[in-house]
Amino acid sequence: MYRIVLLPGDGIGPEIMAVAAKVLTAVADKFELAFDCQTALVGGAAIDAVGHPLPPETLELCQNSHAVLLAAVGGEKWDNLPSHLRPEQALLGLRSGLKLFANIRPAKILPQLIDASTLKREVVEGVDLVVVRELTGGIYFGQPKGIFTDSNGVRRGVNTMAYLETEIDRIAHVAFQTARLRRKQVCSVDKSNVLEVSQLWRERVTAIGQQYPDVTLTHMYVDNCAMQLVRNPRQFDVILTANLFGDILSDEAAMLTGSIGMLPSASLGEAGKPGLFEPVHGSAPDIAGKDIANPIAQVLSIAMMLRYGLQQPQAADAIELAVSLVLDQGKRTGDIMAPGCERVGCQAMGEAIVAQIHSL
Ligand code: IPM
Ligand code: MG
Repeated sequence: MYRIVLLPGDGIGPEIMAVAAKVLTAVADKFELAFDCQTALVGGAAIDAVGHPLPPETLELCQNSHAVLLAAVGGEKWDNLPSHLRPEQALLGLRSGLKLFANIRPAKILPQLIDASTLKREVVEGVDLVVVRELTGGIYFGQPKGIFTDSNGVRRGVNTMAYLETEIDRIAHVAFQTARLRRKQVCSVDKSNVLEVSQLWRERVTAIGQQYPDVTLTHMYVDNCAMQLVRNPRQFDVILTANLFGDILSDEAAMLTGSIGMLPSASLGEAGKPGLFEPVHGSAPDIAGKDIANPIAQVLSIAMMLRYGLQQPQAADAIELAVSLVLDQGKRTGDIMAPGCERVGCQAMGEAIVAQIHSL
């Protein structure tokens, strides 16, 4: 029996989570798995209900689960709250509260969707990369941080990009191990021509790399990487990088695949502890409640949960295959619509995926 916490959150979150719940039921039937799913408050929904984006009961429930499935948080309604009460704080609180130091963000272009990319077919065809982003350190969490007023009354905004070598080492291991299951190439991305924190990063990644002689390690500056991702993205297998750089590069990598509405991600901590699985996209308040959101990233997040969190690779494969077959049938939500395809809504897309899982 797997205890799963569902965190629907805000915007399109509840709609895509409704699809996810049906997919979980279908997978449970098909593979004789048992999921005990509990839904909890997070983000703006939690602010409205109890005044805090990450209520302690939610964090506790997650800490005692086998895996957490999150949809999305945030929206204009909560944008003017003080920063410690904004929905985004729920994400940061979950990451630190569950010690989720490794964020795995695959960007793989599906052949059915090549023409949905804003880039030329010959550039994006065959793209299959993973961004391994450090998630609980760096400038997101470094001290000191804040807005301080000096003796002249002038304010100074401060964040600190800092890494312990132990933090670098453990995320480097994740990248090398991820590469071993793929094309065995790690490109570590930093800004070591300017930043000392990156110089330590490069030194430690190089040292850890010696333990993985079968994996090829290269280094790249982050500005060059941003360029290479749109110039020749096929050169990348695993991109290993720090928290802020990974935030930016993973959005860029996502766009290569056509729609950010397709991409799942996994945030992992220590072995045996619950991971968090969520779409890369946000809460899309502009399309919430209209049944037009693309639920595929959420559904593929379940596949990542089964693969990386619950060690059920067959069930994960089945979900990915079902999604691919539904795309083969020509079913598309608006964000990935193409000539000759059939436009479907969020729930109908979910039903088509569920039907495919049953018929596998
Ligand atoms: C992401 C998001 C978050 C981040 C925000 C919403 C806190 O952009 O998961 O990439 O910056 O990490
Ligand atoms: Mg981001």
